[in-house]
Amino acid sequence: MDIRLTTQPVDDVVCDALVVGAARKKAGSGTRVVVLSEIAKTVDALLGGLLKEICADGEFKGNLGEITTVHTMGKLSAKRVILVGLGPLETLNAQAIRRASATATRHLQNTGAHQLTLALHWDYSNAAIEQGTQAQVEGALLGAYTFKKYQHLDDNGNGHGITKIRLLSRYRDEDAVKRAIQRGSILAEATNYARDLVNEPPNVLTPTELANRANIMAKQFGLECEILDRPQMQELGMGGLLAVAQGSAEPPKFIILRYRGDPQSPYKGMAFVGKGITFDTGGISLKPAERMHEMKGDMAGAAAVICPMQAIAALKPAVNVTALVSSTENMPSGTAYRPGDIIRIMNGKTVEIVNTDAEGRLVLADALSYASKEGLSPIIDVATLTGGIVIALGSVMAGLFSNDQKLSDELIAAGQAAGEKFWRMPLDEEYAELIKSEVADIKQTGGRPASSVTAAKILEQFVGDMKWAHLDIAGMDYTDDKLPYQEKGATGFGVRTLVELALRTAGE
Ligand code: BES
Ligand code: MN
Ligand code: ZN
Repeated sequence: MDIRLTTQPVDDVVCDALVVGAARKKAGSGTRVVVLSEIAKTVDALLGGLLKEICADGEFKGNLGEITTVHTMGKLSAKRVILVGLGPLETLNAQAIRRASATATRHLQNTGAHQLTLALHWDYSNAAIEQGTQAQVEGALLGAYTFKKYQHLDDNGNGHGITKIRLLSRYRDEDAVKRAIQRGSILAEATNYARDLVNEPPNVLTPTELANRANIMAKQFGLECEILDRPQMQELGMGGLLAVAQGSAEPPKFIILRYRGDPQSPYKGMAFVGKGITFDTGGISLKPAERMHEMKGDMAGAAAVICPMQAIAALKPAVNVTALVSSTENMPSGTAYRPGDIIRIMNGKTVEIVNTDAEGRLVLADALSYASKEGLSPIIDVATLTGGIVIALGSVMAGLFSNDQKLSDELIAAGQAAGEKFWRMPLDEEYAELIKSEVADIKQTGGRPASSVTAAKILEQFVGDMKWAHLDIAGMDYTDDKLPYQEKGATGFGVRTLVELALRTAGE
């Protein structure tokens, strides 16, 4: 996608569609009126008041993502004007602009439009211009995303309808706007890369293929990459990853990516740890067939830690970051691990297996032990870990568990900037009662009550003294519905929050 700044006057911009915004504002007596942005007002004047007319009688209400198309009939150089709703003015933020931009771009994709001009900023203060520009770019690239590589399609369905996007801005600090465009592109591309990995079918994206793709990306972006195979895992004593992998014909991989943005620092830097189950059948404790195909997305945590690394390598913050991924399938077979088995994790702790479908915590336990042993801090793990978190939070927020208040606050704030929501969940000691074993150091599951919390309590056992946060993204990684701002399938959730966290840690 060719995506750049234009500083031309709005009536001179040649394009297929010019996108402008309007919000809803509280008027007296509880009613709401539509208010046009400054740029929309200019466009409205050029069109002889057409936009105001459309907003006057309730045809267009300014709801978030609402769209109206107006043909300019030569009154502007743009062929069409797309008026997009930004929702309530009182809560208008970067996320509203991101969603509006995504919805408009997605809508325009199959309408014969190839060249778009986006002019959705609202606030004209310095920070808001940069955030608003970045959000528009992210929205456009995320909204235009499709995964059609395995489908034969006619001309217009291939998602490449839009080839050129211009961000309209007359803001005096052109360099700041250009940086915002670049940042937005980098973040959206990393998110879309994660979506690609999650959308790939599990026969293609095996642990070996996941490792290959991470390796190719690392070469391209100048990251260090190391892939550990089964013998190295055996040497390190990664009994969790090895137990889960023993039922699969596909060999497991432990993926390590390193970015050194602050080589002088005495601190080894932060670790991002991902669950990379490329297909989760449940193993011997087999899942029901009905929604099992969705378990190709059980490596979304891995994608959410691998893909930020490419953005971090591109943006070059002064911080050290290591991504660690435990990757395997979870399959039933004659060699599979069993309920009743007792296994030993890399840090020496033993776990009594009770349900082979609780595999995520086992593979993460080794990766967390590895991170802790390397002295990496803080450690942030990302995983589609429990059905329990889906019951608790649905697909609106991810669960956040942390042993550190400051890290928790930082993640929530980074998520807010990225347009991703996290809700802090408890880790109180009483929950540890549920995972006491009579035969091993810990029992693998605590049963149905508070299952996302007991899963997190297990992970906590493997981080040593490090600051740690666990993001349970089950329910967030995948959308079952076609949404106005994104197609059905992988969301790339978590990628932008982790990049944002790395940038903030480096003081940017
Ligand atoms: N990958 C699943 C969790 C999951 C469920 C992700 C739904 C996305 C959507 C995980 O490995 C799992 O099976 N968890 C079990 C654990 C249980 C057996 C203790 C669960 O949460 O039901
Ligand atoms: Mn499972
Ligand atoms: Zn799983």
